[in-house]
Amino acid sequence: MPARPDGAGDYDVPVLTDGTVVLRRLDERDVPQLARNCADPAAAEFTTVPLGYTESDARWYVEHFVPEAWRAGREYNWAAADAATDRLYGTVGFNALRGTTADVGLNFGPHARGTGAAEAACRLLLEHGFEHLGLTYAYWVAKVPNWASRKLAWKLGFRSPVRIDGFMEQRGASVDAWILTLGADDPRAPRTPWDGPPPPGAPR
Ligand SMILES: CC(C)(COP(=O)(O)OP(=O)(O)OC[C@H]1O[C@@H](n2cnc3c(N)ncnc32)[C@H](O)[C@@H]1OP(=O)(O)O)[C@@H](O)C(=O)NCCC(=O)NCCS
Repeated sequence: MPARPDGAGDYDVPVLTDGTVVLRRLDERDVPQLARNCADPAAAEFTTVPLGYTESDARWYVEHFVPEAWRAGREYNWAAADAATDRLYGTVGFNALRGTTADVGLNFGPHARGTGAAEAACRLLLEHGFEHLGLTYAYWVAKVPNWASRKLAWKLGFRSPVRIDGFMEQRGASVDAWILTLGADDPRAPRTPWDGPPPPGAPR
């Protein structure tokens, strides 16, 4: 096969699936949905995506950022898609790989939120990280007050939330973050009753 001009061809991405969600390599077909997901207000508010995100940004991410970070062993990012239709839900991966630890990063589109897809994708990711990459700990870093993210981390068994003011860099600013921890041998289920706010719109 001829080399791809973008140089994105030469890295291997394991395919992970539970039959409902599939984690696979990000590619050209994902660009329009990825751009929509990253232009969503929640992504702008709580992640480090550039503001005013376009398909050109998404193409650069797919063709350059992800392959280069993967090859360098810095970050492993997957497309999380519907296993039946292959429609992109979002992205999920290990960021800041260092020693035997990494941070979980994810961004799901509005169409995917509340469906259980993000939880399923994280379970596949964590299983892979602990069983096949030799990770001993995974960390969850969420900008305060990203309760949707924190609740997902709680469902997955992430524990010991701490708040560190100014810990997270977001477009040149230092913003406050919650950091949670999951060990390789920890149960991947909540440790304690949920102590955050009820879902928006729920009776208090
Ligand atoms: C974080 C994210 C992946 C979570 O996906 P999800 O689990 O499908 O999200 P949901 O909308 O179902 O929210 C998760 C839970 O938090 C709850 N929640 C959401 N916003 C909340 C708020 N402001 N206050 C209290 N609870 C909230 C939801 O009701 C839901 O609870 P439930 O499962 O008991 O019904 C998704 O919201 C996302 O991609 N957001 C944009 C990018 C982002 O924040 N990425 C994470 C960076 S750390």
